[in-house]
Amino acid sequence: MEEAQHHALRLACPPLPVVRIGFIGLGNRGMATLRRYLVIEGVVFKALCDLSEQHLQQAKTLLESIGQTSVTAYQEENGWKALCERNDIDLIYICTDWLTHTPMAIYAMQQGKHVAIEVPAATSVAECWQLVDTAEKTRRHCYMLENCCYDPFSMSALAMERKGIFGDITHCEGAYIHDLRDRYAADERNGGYHEGWMARFCGEHRGNPYPTHGIGPICQLLHIHRGDRLDYLVSLSPGTGTDGRDDIYMNSTLIRTVRGKSILLQYDVTTPRPYSRLQTICGTKGFIQKYPCRCLSLDGQEPVTDDGIEPVLHAHEHPLTADILRDGERLNVPNIMNYTMDRRLIHCLRQGLPLDIDVYDAAEWSCITELSEQSVRDGSRPVKIPDFTRGKWQLISGYDYSHDTPEH
Ligand SMILES: NC(=O)c1ccc[n+]([C@@H]2O[C@H](COP(=O)([O-])OP(=O)(O)OC[C@H]3O[C@@H](n4cnc5c(N)ncnc54)[C@H](O)[C@@H]3O)[C@@H](O)[C@H]2O)c1
Repeated sequence: MEEAQHHALRLACPPLPVVRIGFIGLGNRGMATLRRYLVIEGVVFKALCDLSEQHLQQAKTLLESIGQTSVTAYQEENGWKALCERNDIDLIYICTDWLTHTPMAIYAMQQGKHVAIEVPAATSVAECWQLVDTAEKTRRHCYMLENCCYDPFSMSALAMERKGIFGDITHCEGAYIHDLRDRYAADERNGGYHEGWMARFCGEHRGNPYPTHGIGPICQLLHIHRGDRLDYLVSLSPGTGTDGRDDIYMNSTLIRTVRGKSILLQYDVTTPRPYSRLQTICGTKGFIQKYPCRCLSLDGQEPVTDDGIEPVLHAHEHPLTADILRDGERLNVPNIMNYTMDRRLIHCLRQGLPLDIDVYDAAEWSCITELSEQSVRDGSRPVKIPDFTRGKWQLISGYDYSHDTPEH
């Protein structure tokens, strides 16, 4: 008999008094995450998994420094499966390379665990559907760790959009422009990636492999699968034609939504361009952007730039994160958006609230990887974007962070 399957929109699960975590992948990002969690209340680490003995030892030592001494370590190839099968874990936190995210998340949900997956959650449309189907069948949270959604700039812009300050949004731009040429080529001992996974993936693919930092905040602002949905895209990458070069990896993708909004997404990790995520929002009454220089222009007011926009962002601080921002400032955390993401994830799990980013977000933002490649390889032809909600994209009206009311 077919397993029952219902949509997982605004999925809420029973509150967890303490979130018991099993952690997979303790490389650059994993260790940084573990360090961040030293100041997050209401969590305990039960098990760790990595292929490297050295990484495991570093992580165990770190947890011992805060009194978490009974953590089990798994080092073997399939150790992550044994970790997922334990019955004393609520959340599996996945910080491995891109290709392992989905198989690990699927298995974890099938073992009854919630999952938090580093970005992107998936690398193909088929994997995106697997995540959606598994979350719907198991009723487990599938949260993608898109920290850029918690950038105070994005949160204020979201609050301003909700108040109608920009009028109707017509166009948004997002990007991941980050000169990673040194890390790309470096081996693991010199700060590079495990077995060079990123350069290998980029060498074999041609679209935008890392779209979620750019598109995540935009989709929240445009209420994607909360009244609008991504319709189709066209994509282009230099370096793929007959005169193309293999040592550059750049991509530009244009997306149209069903309600007629346009989105520009860019990716560039192999040129000297200064770091940028663009974060550009154009509306009928206002414009705001974060990169390359901060700028705000509202109807009837003089445009303001750089630090001049700070009082406006402050005045429109998102109500659900204002306290978290104050705490982060008091604790002097190095990266406020990571801290806000960690706090919100654990808060929502402990309160039994729907999570800020759901499995449909994870699928919609991650599927751009394969679909942009399809377009690039076929002369930039338009490619349809699936509706991962299967027709329920108007069930919820408007994006907002989950309010403090559990909906069981
Ligand atoms: N959100 C962000 O801002 C941000 C920043 C950096 C990295 N990331 C993401 O974090 C993830 C990890 O990136 P990274 O820089 O830490 O890579 P990394 O190569 O430094 O670390 C990956 C780790 O996973 C481990 N691993 C690989 N396969 C495994 C398996 N089968 N079982 C157990 N462990 C395994 C490796 O041993 C390594 O320690 C990527 O998805 C990346 O895109 C996100």
